[in-house]
Amino acid sequence: QTNQSWGGRFTEPTDAFVERFTASVGFDWRLYQQDINGSIAHATMLEKVGVLTADEKTQIIEGLEEIRADISAGNFEWSVKLEDVHMNIEAALTQKIGITGKKLHTGRSRNDQVATDIRLYVRDQIDLIASELKRLQSGILELAEREADTIMPGFTHLQTAQPVTFGHHLLAWYEMLVRDASRLADCRARLNQSPLGAAALAGTTYPIDRALTAELLGFDKPTANSLDSVSDRDFAIEFCAFASILLTHLSRASEELVLWTSAQFNFIDMPDRFCTGSSIMPQKKNPDVPELVRGKTGRVNGHLVALLTLMKSQPLAYNKDNQEDKEPLFDAVDTVKDCLRAFADMVPAIRSRKDSMYEAARRGFSTATDLADYLVRKGMPFRDAHEVVGKSVAYGIETNKDLSEMSLDELQQFSDTIGDDVFEVLTLEGSVAARDHIGGTAPAQVRAAIAQARKQL
Ligand code: ARG
Repeated sequence: QTNQSWGGRFTEPTDAFVERFTASVGFDWRLYQQDINGSIAHATMLEKVGVLTADEKTQIIEGLEEIRADISAGNFEWSVKLEDVHMNIEAALTQKIGITGKKLHTGRSRNDQVATDIRLYVRDQIDLIASELKRLQSGILELAEREADTIMPGFTHLQTAQPVTFGHHLLAWYEMLVRDASRLADCRARLNQSPLGAAALAGTTYPIDRALTAELLGFDKPTANSLDSVSDRDFAIEFCAFASILLTHLSRASEELVLWTSAQFNFIDMPDRFCTGSSIMPQKKNPDVPELVRGKTGRVNGHLVALLTLMKSQPLAYNKDNQEDKEPLFDAVDTVKDCLRAFADMVPAIRSRKDSMYEAARRGFSTATDLADYLVRKGMPFRDAHEVVGKSVAYGIETNKDLSEMSLDELQQFSDTIGDDVFEVLTLEGSVAARDHIGGTAPAQVRAAIAQARKQL
């Protein structure tokens, strides 16, 4: 016999190591709010269907509320002997209100209880993360608006390609986050069904009202199959997939910020409060915040793979393996929140170094395509135009001149189709302004895209 709540059929106490090995309270105590909310909904339902008396229900709810207050105030002692958050709270309830506490678990199992708790937890966290994501999105729009006319080189292969506006580049970040927000909303919509009532795996013999508990907990409806209800962790995987993709986006933005703050690029200034120094090199100001966000992406990717691997080949229905879902999930939640916060605080504080961006765009023959397009407009086939401009660039490299710095005579060596109207298309301003269509880099389009984004955010 052991004194565990499930100890009736046991003839010896649990091995001390096994007790520690199987316990989850060290991390799942974080579900206490959701666990108490779930229990209150369950007790409310049990009273409605006649399993508990009104007085028993009231005692249970009042007891649970006291326990909630104790935990929140730090006056609760979690016991590893009681294994997990569910049994700790149930034992505390029985200690507080006596035998009525032992009735709470009627028609319920920890299997549907924990499935309910995690869904509620992920839903709560999704709502917090969605609003932090929005804060970052508006920060990006704020910066993009200030930088709608700022010219910088656009890159492919990290080689200067064509001039773009910094505002346009920032709106590319913004679009990634629009997709992330919609992925997060999808995850929330799919998870919002109540597993409560599935009990251990097969349902229960009590006349429970699953629609009522679903409604009390803000779920759209009860889940459809009891076996699936206790075994499904898709929502945790989906959340981690969202987290991985979001952080992949933030890691790309981070990489750019790291490059841009370097002396070699010198494109932006990051306020001191977001940077740190070196213990040996007095001159250093390091972009630690984006570097760390970039680094944390790896651990969240790891959590996604951990959850996928956890669920792979698991037979129905509940298996203790599932207790392993929590630490990766919790850490993914914490990491996403921290990274979003870091970015949301940092992005609006970024200042561009416009001169240096402009110089960089001028140096890399970024208007070469504009010159080719100019020749095409004058009737030359594009391939021939490509060749003419390629030769002009080779001459520019030799003489250390940008296309816009060459005289008309110099340019005409390569084609007499070039006239003195060529210089408008060779300016950076002309180049960006000419890309004036939906999704293009022209400042007017950037402003229109910002206005559109503000409407939808
Ligand atoms: N701590 C467990 C978990 O996190 C709760 C469910 C335990 N159920 C069971 N039959 N042992 O998954």
